[in-house]
Amino acid sequence: MSYEAHFRVWRGDAEGGELRDYQVEVNDGEVVLDIIHRLQATQAGDLAVRWNCKAGKCGSCSAEVNGRPRLMCMTRMSVFTPEETVTVTPMRTFPVVRDLVTDVSFNYDKARQVPAFVPPKGVAAGEYRMRQVDVERSQEFRKCIECFLCQDTCHVVRDHEENKTSFAGPRFLMRIAELDMHPLDAAAEVGLTRSSSAQEDHGLGYCNITKCCTEVCPEHIKITDNALIPLKERAVDRKYDPLVWLGNKIRRRDA
Ligand code: SF4
Ligand code: SF4
Ligand code: FES
Repeated sequence: MSYEAHFRVWRGDAEGGELRDYQVEVNDGEVVLDIIHRLQATQAGDLAVRWNCKAGKCGSCSAEVNGRPRLMCMTRMSVFTPEETVTVTPMRTFPVVRDLVTDVSFNYDKARQVPAFVPPKGVAAGEYRMRQVDVERSQEFRKCIECFLCQDTCHVVRDHEENKTSFAGPRFLMRIAELDMHPLDAAAEVGLTRSSSAQEDHGLGYCNITKCCTEVCPEHIKITDNALIPLKERAVDRKYDPLVWLGNKIRRRDA
């Protein structure tokens, strides 16, 4: 079946823009990205859109479809009725470059701020050995395709530009959780407690576990339940653990 769909697409740049209306042909089995490409090919040759794999794996085609953060290449046109207007806008949390393309460098800055894996002493690279049971929990987080839809959705930064300096966002708090669960990470040996650092340096306390990030993740990673809540629990455990408290007190006295 083919039909003409009514699309409203945001057109503009950092200076400002508007929603423009288009009638575009839709065929069986197509996804929103197909329609955006047809629009580009037939009516709006200068429409800017970022994409790469068209298979839900590169994380490039993130945008908001009818207000919901989604991958355009994984959003089937069959979820809309032929009469429905489909509105496509750029991710709201990041500055617009042009049309549907946003500047996501906020995320690269946050990635750089997370301390890297600390290799264990006395084990040469290539000789790391881990048991499956020890990586079972954190392996889920490696499915991340860095689409930044969770970062776009999180209200802590979506509605509050001022929080961007102190909050890493769900994707990078999840990265800290992953390293904290890593069986070979030797962060503690260099004096780094990842859960405490998440709280003190990366804004874990801003997260009020609304789970909105989890709802939009195209990889279905349980970001809140499996990464953020355990990280919060570890941070709190450390803070109120009487042995940790005593150790800190003795260290302070020695200093
Ligand atoms: S669960 Fe936390 S990180 Fe995820 S969207 Fe809600 S506040 Fe943001
Ligand atoms: S955790 Fe999910 S939503 Fe967030 S960047 Fe990774 S794949 Fe995208
Ligand atoms: S084009 Fe790669 S995820 Fe959509």
